[in-house]
Amino acid sequence: MYYNWKDKTNTEELKIVCDLIKKGEIIIFPTETVYGIGANALDEGAVGKIFVAKGRPIDNPLIVHVSDKKKIEEIAEITTDVEKKLIDRFMPGPFTIILKKKKIIPDIVSAGLDTVAVRIPSNVIARGIISLSGVPIAAPSANISGRPSGTNIEDIRKELEEKVAAIIDTGEVDGGLESTVVKVIDEVPVILRPGLVTLEEIEKVVGKVKIDDKVFEKTENNQKIESPGMKYKHYSPETKCKVIYCNNKLDQIFYINREIRIYEGDVVVLGFKEHREKISVPEERYIYLGSDEDIEEIARNIYKSLRQADKIGAKIILIEGVKKSGVGVAIMNRLLKTCNYDYFER
Ligand code: TXA
Ligand code: MG
Repeated sequence: MYYNWKDKTNTEELKIVCDLIKKGEIIIFPTETVYGIGANALDEGAVGKIFVAKGRPIDNPLIVHVSDKKKIEEIAEITTDVEKKLIDRFMPGPFTIILKKKKIIPDIVSAGLDTVAVRIPSNVIARGIISLSGVPIAAPSANISGRPSGTNIEDIRKELEEKVAAIIDTGEVDGGLESTVVKVIDEVPVILRPGLVTLEEIEKVVGKVKIDDKVFEKTENNQKIESPGMKYKHYSPETKCKVIYCNNKLDQIFYINREIRIYEGDVVVLGFKEHREKISVPEERYIYLGSDEDIEEIARNIYKSLRQADKIGAKIILIEGVKKSGVGVAIMNRLLKTCNYDYFER
């Protein structure tokens, strides 16, 4: 069932949706990062339906969403001071922490690991659904595994409508990129997946912070990795993609134009508003990532513009890269995976 709450939350329908969760059904709901596809995290059968709907590999664990800090210790153990500080500072918000799991969380949620990923969304509708359902909600991003994460309902409906009991539409999400995933190892926070909460912000709270090597590197099949999700194909449209980044913007424009010639114009460019005039493609083949000056706008647009570009069916999607600092770290992490590390930097 499709529910339109763009203007206002319907409390009757909210009750229906929460009853579906309690009965072991799966639903699509908004968070401040991306839409999630959620189920009662304590119900193995319900969680299994998420893996089937997404075609998600069974060894890729899910994030469990709770409605407030008091609920964290019902499902996980907070064992260090660093963990406590991170929770106090960044939750609720686009931040996920990996903690030692309690037995109540079924193995299917954590893919057999002894840890569980925990997040408190700041989105009030998400929190309302969790607290009214009365159970923690396991939820990955709402998309078929391997495809760009779901940030607007039109795309999500095409992929998943038949497979879920309810879809809640609240319009476009605020953030556009999935939460920052952090695990504290030997008292040091390690960023397993960068997001809108940046390394710089985490440093301010606890000092030293590390970024996992796999954030910008391709993983080999036999490697030991902290976050199983890192090893899979991710965020990818069907069209081949390439990211181009230069320190100097004029160089960046030059190399994009060079690629356009190589592909004899059969390209789509995901580019900055400011570069439109200088990049030689017709209007319908230029899709705005946003303004060069507004990194949050770029984050919000990424998945939507990738999906839009894919529909054109060109030989290649050429994507303007950004500097790898602040939110740019998360953007480049997603873009490099999107293009399967076909990346030009100068
Ligand atoms: O913003 C978000 O985080 C969205 C919304 C819906 O909350 N959710 C999301 O979930 O992006 P998903 O499943 O697409 O990504 C979860 C990531 C995966 O990379 C997974 O491998 C990692 O978190 N993860 C989950 N549990 C873990 C664990 N116990 N240890 C290490 N990594 C874990
Ligand atoms: Mg995902």
